[in-house]
Order: sequence, then C-alpha cells, then structure tokens
Amino acid sequence: MPVPVETSSVGSVLVFYHRRQGSLFITVAILVFEPSHLYYTNYGLCFLRMSFHRMEHIEYRFLAEMYLNDAAKLLTSAMVQREPFISTMKNTSYEVEYSANYQLCQRAIRDGLSFVAIDTSTNGLVGVATSVICAEGEDEECIYHPKDLEGRYLYKPMINILRELHDHGDPLAGVTAIPSSLVAVIAKVATHVDYGRMGILTEITRHKLDVCKEKCLSIVITDASSPYSQRAFEKCGFHSVYEIQFDKFEFEGKNQFSNHPIGRCVKLMVKNL
Ligand SMILES: CC(C)(COP(=O)(O)OP(=O)(O)OC[C@H]1O[C@@H](n2cnc3c(N)ncnc32)[C@H](O)[C@@H]1OP(=O)(O)O)[C@@H](O)C(=O)NCCC(=O)NCCS
Repeated sequence: MPVPVETSSVGSVLVFYHRRQGSLFITVAILVFEPSHLYYTNYGLCFLRMSFHRMEHIEYRFLAEMYLNDAAKLLTSAMVQREPFISTMKNTSYEVEYSANYQLCQRAIRDGLSFVAIDTSTNGLVGVATSVICAEGEDEECIYHPKDLEGRYLYKPMINILRELHDHGDPLAGVTAIPSSLVAVIAKVATHVDYGRMGILTEITRHKLDVCKEKCLSIVITDASSPYSQRAFEKCGFHSVYEIQFDKFEFEGKNQFSNHPIGRCVKLMVKNL
C-alpha cells in the first residue's frame, strides 16, 4: 500500500566567506512544505563557522638571512606555478628559478627594502616581496636573472618583453649616483596560495613605501605581470606608465604568454614618493 506523501522539503545551503577574517560561514536551511497549502510548517537551520587563516596572525618583518631559504622557495613555487611569464614559458626549470630567487633574495637583504609575511600561528612564511635599489647604469634584467646564472637563455622571451616595456619611458634612465635619484625596483613578489587575497601584498607594499621614504628614495618602479599585483600596486598609489598586452607580444613568431588563465598584460608601474 503506497504511503501518502504529505510533505515535501526544500533544502538550501548558503555559504558566506569573510576573507579578511579568514572565516567561512555555512548555513544550511531546510524548509518543510505542506503540498496542498504551499506554506512551510517547519524549518531547520544549521550554522557552521570554519576558521582559516586570519589577518591578525600575519606579521610583517624585514627579509633577513634567517628567511632566505623559505623566501626563495615560496618565490620559486609561485613563479613556476602561477606567475604569468615564468609559468607559461616552456622549459621552466625549478632549479634555475630557485637559484635566481636565492640570489635575488640575498641582494634584497643587502638593500634593506624587502619584507616577508609570517603567520605567527604556524610560524610559516606566507608572503615575500623583494626589492632592490638600482645603481646608475644597471641592467635591470640582471635583477631577475643574475648574469652568472646557468640556464639564463631560458628567460629570453621574458627578458625581451621587459626590454620592450622599458623602451617606452624607462624611469631608470634618470638614475644617477645622487641618493635622491636612486630608484627602488620591486622585483619578484609572492603570496602563499592559501593566503591569497587577504591583503598581504598590499600591506607589504605599504611597509616598503614607508622604508623607501625613510631612505629618501624618490621613485619606486615595478614590472607587474599579474593583474593581482597590478591591483595591489594601484591601491598603493602606483600608476601605469606603459603596458604590453600578452596576446600582442610575439617572440620567435609565437605568442609566448597569452595562455595564462588570469594574466593579460605586463605593466610598467611607477610611484613618485
Ligand atoms: C600577485 C600576488 C603576490 C598577490 O598577492 P595577494 O597577497 O593575494 O594580493 P592582495 O591580497 O594584496 O590583493 C590585491 C588585489 O588583487 C586582487 N586579487 C588578489 N587575489 C585575487 C583573487 N584570487 N581573485 C580575484 N582578485 C584577486 C584583488 O583586487 C585584491 O584587492 P581587493 O581584495 O581589495 O579587491 C599573488 O597572487 C601571487 O603570489 N601570485 C603568483 C606570483 C605572481 O604572479 N607574482 C606577481 C608577479 S612577480
């Protein structure tokens, strides 16, 4: 004998994510309807809150010797997996990239403008932004890939697009030995993938600009290849001087960087202090 169906129920799951607090709110609502009247007779609500990484646990510190290895590792995995240039180039090598980042971090420590973000609840390094002070006549491509680095040829397409970018209004052209005309270059930056969009790069950049001011630097530049870093720099007052769309840039007859899921263009960005 069939059992008469007297009620039907509708369930819905609502998920709210509060990213600044690093919390995920999940609400499950079940409404039970009387079929003939179409009004609900009962409901259940379940409210869950799951905490992830929290901004108040993040501390910003100067990049120092003790963070060298972790900073180089974080930069390397971010570059190889997500950064629009390096992640889309063929033959990208973890070892070459790590070696370049290790040397970059060593120089960044010496120049004293670079920061890391530490999650104090785990003691893990979750963000790094390297910067160097450019000397007169310095070749900026050596900042990213030191001259003595084996395998530098791998970076040819990237070096070419950066050259093309800097051919248009290169702020480094004004660099002299006078301290007030020195240029700080924000080189590679990375946030751990689990800590993305929590404002870490934006906050690190603010710290960096304060130190640049203390050192009486007058101009900070960066080649920003990710729309997320471009946005973080804009929020800190940088403006774009020139940009190249990836799908317009060809190297050896091919569009090298147009396959990246989010990267659309590289921007030369400047902030006058
Ligand atoms: C680029 C990168 C460092 C940004 O770090 P981050 O700490 O997540 O950046 P922020 O949280 O300060 O975000 C800045 C802005 O970028 C945008 N953004 C960042 N992550 C985003 C995401 N996952 N989805 C959409 N927008 C995002 C937002 O507009 C954000 O500002 P808002 O939150 O006020 O809207 C990080 O994505 C990364 O490590 N990428 C791989 C390496 C790379 O590409 N480096 C840059 C070139 S060297």
